[in-house]
Amino acid sequence: MLEEIVEPLLSWYEKNKRELPWRTDPTPYHVWVSEIMLQQTRVEAVKGYYSRFLDQLPSIKDLAVCPQEKLLKLWEGLGYYNRVKNMQKAAIEIRDRYGGVIPKDYEKILALPGIGTYTAGAIASIAYQIPQPAVDGNVLRVFARLTEEPEDILKQKTKKKAEDVLRKIIPSEAPGDFNQSLIEVGAIVCVPNGPARCTICPVRDYCLAKAHDRVEEYPKKAPKKKRKIEERTILILQNGQEFAIHKRPSGGLLGGLYELPNCAGNLSREEALSYVEKLGLMPLHIADAGEAKHIFSHVEWRMKGYFIKVASTDEKKIGELIFVDKKETKGRYPIPSAFSAYRKYIEEDF
Ligand code: ADE
Repeated sequence: MLEEIVEPLLSWYEKNKRELPWRTDPTPYHVWVSEIMLQQTRVEAVKGYYSRFLDQLPSIKDLAVCPQEKLLKLWEGLGYYNRVKNMQKAAIEIRDRYGGVIPKDYEKILALPGIGTYTAGAIASIAYQIPQPAVDGNVLRVFARLTEEPEDILKQKTKKKAEDVLRKIIPSEAPGDFNQSLIEVGAIVCVPNGPARCTICPVRDYCLAKAHDRVEEYPKKAPKKKRKIEERTILILQNGQEFAIHKRPSGGLLGGLYELPNCAGNLSREEALSYVEKLGLMPLHIADAGEAKHIFSHVEWRMKGYFIKVASTDEKKIGELIFVDKKETKGRYPIPSAFSAYRKYIEEDF
């Protein structure tokens, strides 16, 4: 009976939980911010972002009115920028419909933009003690091993099954701790990379995969589709003390963020120079700025950079390019990590 895992998990969690910033004062807003950040990003990396975000935007109302550029800047480096754009949409709805407080109702939380069953379950259970499960990849892995779940855990159906099973056993007196105990076991015991640490697992006696010595066979996952590879050429265009940046159109990959000018394909020096001329600039000197790659969820960029000095122009805007001073770029324009190999050229002294 899976119900038997409840007590050992809760006692283990009480003794072994990590001290994490979002566990000290788990208001609904704090839980929300941390859980959204923790999707796709490691705990250690999230800590700094979390405190800075809440320093700048201490309440849901602050989030609702934050200029998008500042918001993206606070998120810069975390990736998956739609997460924070949706948070702002939800914050506006929470302000307008619920007086700035996340409703104490699982279905209403779930109906907010960008909030799926995992985040809704985490907020409801951790902040409001509502007995709803919070099943993310970590919890699915633990569940799949405990029950020898034969289906692909990436299927919606499997997640739903895990939620339905856990909903039946979640203790109403400690739903938040129960969910976090599963998350914690998934993060530090029943780990995704490398061997599971079954000897220290509080629920090893209830684990079917362990009993059959098949822990490494779970969770079942269908092979991933290969990422599309795109070659891109990145241009660092220098005009005196200034460098060109470009705002990406809203919607689509990295929408609304700034980037270094770039184009599809692996351009030769000659092609890069004529591309720059077509932009309305006169190139004077070109040097290689090295190669880099960046992995998004569905695409991989293989980049080649050129550092190009252009003939001086007083215009701050040439077509869609904006020239900004080195001193200004840092701290002001949100530039995604995809460009991190090249952004040093426009932010630091060389
Ligand atoms: N990963 C996802 N949610 C988490 C949480 N609340 N604490 C630690 N790691 C997590």
